[in-house]
Amino acid sequence: MSDLNKIVLKIISSGKGILAADESNGTMTKRLEAVNVKSNPENRLAFRETLFSSECMKECIGGVILYDETINQKTSLGKPIPDLISETGAIPGIKVDTGVKNLANSSKEKITEGLDGLRERLKKYYELGARFTKWRGVYSISNEYPSKLAIHTNAHALARYSALVQESKMVPIIEPEVLMDGDHSIDICFKKTSEVIKKCFEELILNKVDLSGIILKPNMILPGSQSKNKIAGEEISKKTLECLENSVPNEVPGIAFLSGGQSEIEASENLNLINKNNRTKFIMTYSYGRALQQSALKTWSKNTKDIESTQNTFNHRAKMCSLAAQGKWSINLEYK
Ligand code: 13P
Repeated sequence: MSDLNKIVLKIISSGKGILAADESNGTMTKRLEAVNVKSNPENRLAFRETLFSSECMKECIGGVILYDETINQKTSLGKPIPDLISETGAIPGIKVDTGVKNLANSSKEKITEGLDGLRERLKKYYELGARFTKWRGVYSISNEYPSKLAIHTNAHALARYSALVQESKMVPIIEPEVLMDGDHSIDICFKKTSEVIKKCFEELILNKVDLSGIILKPNMILPGSQSKNKIAGEEISKKTLECLENSVPNEVPGIAFLSGGQSEIEASENLNLINKNNRTKFIMTYSYGRALQQSALKTWSKNTKDIESTQNTFNHRAKMCSLAAQGKWSINLEYK
């Protein structure tokens, strides 16, 4: 077993998943202002420190993805944030892309930037304690999109990023996110996501990336968020599994889904069904941002000094996700 494979398994085995707390300052400002909290470095740290000090970290969270600001911060007692995370048994990770820009010659689509100077930044993050990284490519669905150009260029960037990360002895999370926006059917999502993931692996293989030392972070197969067709969780789970079984090489140890705008309960229910129906050898878990933090942020915003209530809310959500990652979640556990 390679060192990279060991890191992967430590992050996603035994019902553990990933807390994606790597919102850029821009995104975090939107999240905080939506609950009437001022966005500044102190408040961003206070909320995140509250989560990282919660009880559920030991049992449910195998890795935390941080943003550049947070990995450089210290707790109120002067402890570096990566140390706070490591002490719970979880592994600190870092988002290393620098965000999306309009794609030249297809300007309604996006390309993710951040390859220039990446090797040097990775060295710095390793020294700060990071052992895994994240890069997100985004694709939208419409009649013409995602275009072959967007599928190819983003896959190429994800593969070059992954090769550099493994060279730096860290595990790359590869996140090709096909967005939920639109009124497309679940079958269109299946078709486009399959195309996107297959192209990513074509490029990863070309770049000689060790597939046993990566984590794939895809979207689930869902109808567009404006679609009028309500689709049952059973079908979502079956289509998601079929897509991944057909597009992901067997050497990949695990898949950690993004929540992508699903509610907290939908994200737990769908992950639970995926695990109940999983006949593949892939570990299927969570790498959720909103579906792990939304309620906790709401609780915290009501009284930022009430650490206990915020942590209780987060502990509950993380526990539900962890049960879902083992196919043991049930709706009855949501309401006491
Ligand atoms: P969501 O779970 O809120 O989609 O966030 C996951 C993530 O890391 C997006 O890049």
